[in-house]
Amino acid sequence: MPTATQLKPLDVVIRERRATPDFDGVPIKDADLRHILEAGLAAPSGYNIQPWRFVVVRGPEQKKALRGASFNQQKVETAGAVVVAIADLKAWQHGDLEAVARLSAEHGYTEEQIEGMRASVTGALSSQPGDICGWGPDWAVWGNRQVMIAFTHMMLMAESLGYDTAPMEGFIESQVKQVLGIPEKDVGVVALLGIGHRHGKDKPFAGRTPMAKTVFAEKWGESIKL
Ligand SMILES: Cc1cc2nc3c(=O)[nH]c(=O)nc-3n(C[C@H](O)[C@H](O)[C@H](O)COP(=O)(O)O)c2cc1C
Repeated sequence: MPTATQLKPLDVVIRERRATPDFDGVPIKDADLRHILEAGLAAPSGYNIQPWRFVVVRGPEQKKALRGASFNQQKVETAGAVVVAIADLKAWQHGDLEAVARLSAEHGYTEEQIEGMRASVTGALSSQPGDICGWGPDWAVWGNRQVMIAFTHMMLMAESLGYDTAPMEGFIESQVKQVLGIPEKDVGVVALLGIGHRHGKDKPFAGRTPMAKTVFAEKWGESIKL
């Protein structure tokens, strides 16, 4: 495990990270990859249900095929690894809820607490798309909400370890599914994360919309004073 002094501090990572246009093709060390994946799996999720799945693509043939499913983006093929982030929307009905319940018990949760969690998950997630109580208009929103936090953990940990990263939404989901053998039903491809070392220059920082326009105080439209 890297020590704190070997990791770039979070504020530096956030300031210096750029979406990498192209990689040098050098593989990522297994220990680093494990560390990056573990950071993702440590992310929070609603009821701790963890509906994420990740396919790590490192083989040249698979990367090439994945590039074909991703609008021919070169960085998919030149990344040391591409982590494909996936939402398994109904996994909770097929064993994950019970697995999470067992995990909670192992970590000291009481039977009463676990039963409460079971009831809440079943109540909230049994709704149909369109009438999901507060989960968003459809399952994709719910799934993306959970998976993107884990994805971001991985991106920031990779950067902290000294790698460059490229988040990507430019892909055809049905084609990605075909390349990776992902089931058609109840499983959604959320995003791709290229990880490696940059080839060539980084693209310049393009700036961010100021806080005065994007952050409000107490109510929509009311400016925040800090
Ligand atoms: C969810 C998401 C999807 C993205 N998809 C792509 C993509 O498919 N191809 C690409 O070249 N860049 C993609 N980007 C990179 C963005 O264009 C980039 O993050 C943005 O321009 C800001 O630049 P910066 O990350 O270097 O600050 C994506 C970024 C995010 C967060």
